Amino acid sequence: MTVIAHLSDPHLDGTAEARDRLRRVTAYLLAFSRPVDVVLVTGDLADHGTEYAEVAAELAAFGELPVLVLPGNHDVRANFRAGLTAYVQSVTGGEDPVHQVRDVAGARFVLLDTTVPGEDHGHLSSDSLDWLDAALADPHDGPVFIAFHHPPVGLEHPTMDQWLLREPGQFASLLRRHPVNALFAGHLHNGISTSYAGLPLLLAPGIRSTVPLLAEPPSPTGSLVDPTAPPGLALHVHHPDVPLLTKFVHLA
Ligand SMILES: [Fe+2]
Ligand SMILES: [Fe+2]
Repeated sequence: MTVIAHLSDPHLDGTAEARDRLRRVTAYLLAFSRPVDVVLVTGDLADHGTEYAEVAAELAAFGELPVLVLPGNHDVRANFRAGLTAYVQSVTGGEDPVHQVRDVAGARFVLLDTTVPGEDHGHLSSDSLDWLDAALADPHDGPVFIAFHHPPVGLEHPTMDQWLLREPGQFASLLRRHPVNALFAGHLHNGISTSYAGLPLLLAPGIRSTVPLLAEPPSPTGSLVDPTAPPGLALHVHHPDVPLLTKFVHLA
């Protein structure tokens, strides 16, 4: 059994409020009687692309647990690399995408950088798609998960759906050519279970805030996001030859 703690969008910004919301998630995970096998954070770790000393200090609370990170639209590649050297195995490359392949607890995690510097939407260039094609062609005896920030499918939400992964058609055809178990993403600040290219696509809740769907009660602040909704995470449980089980947790 492999248990993946999937966190997303802590948006640390130097405030106690943001920090405390992440700490509620961290404390919940550290109280497990059987530790999770890996912690995966799917982007928007820093709110302004600069707060990586704070991010690194908070991630250090996980101690010996493997922690995997990838950038979101609020992150800045060069700062992300320089500030998170303990967590990123792609520390050279400056402004190049922060793509990584990490093997943890028998599982392979292909961590894709879908960001576009200075933009909120996501994109996979032909170079990035070539990199992914080569990474997935390398055989692995175990589950293969692909994680990235921007999902290619949205919420039927006119604002959020402007900022999805663009040009997803080539991505889908590439995914269909390789053995992949599931896709993990963030960015929409909602725990979502859907599918893409015939694969499970699981989005972690937002730690910093939640985006109310159109039919839901609006944020009490009147903004796009509800910062009063409880922080959450997804727990993915993998057993060989059994469908992936995902539990969404919200910490009241
Ligand atoms: Fe975010
Ligand atoms: Fe985002």
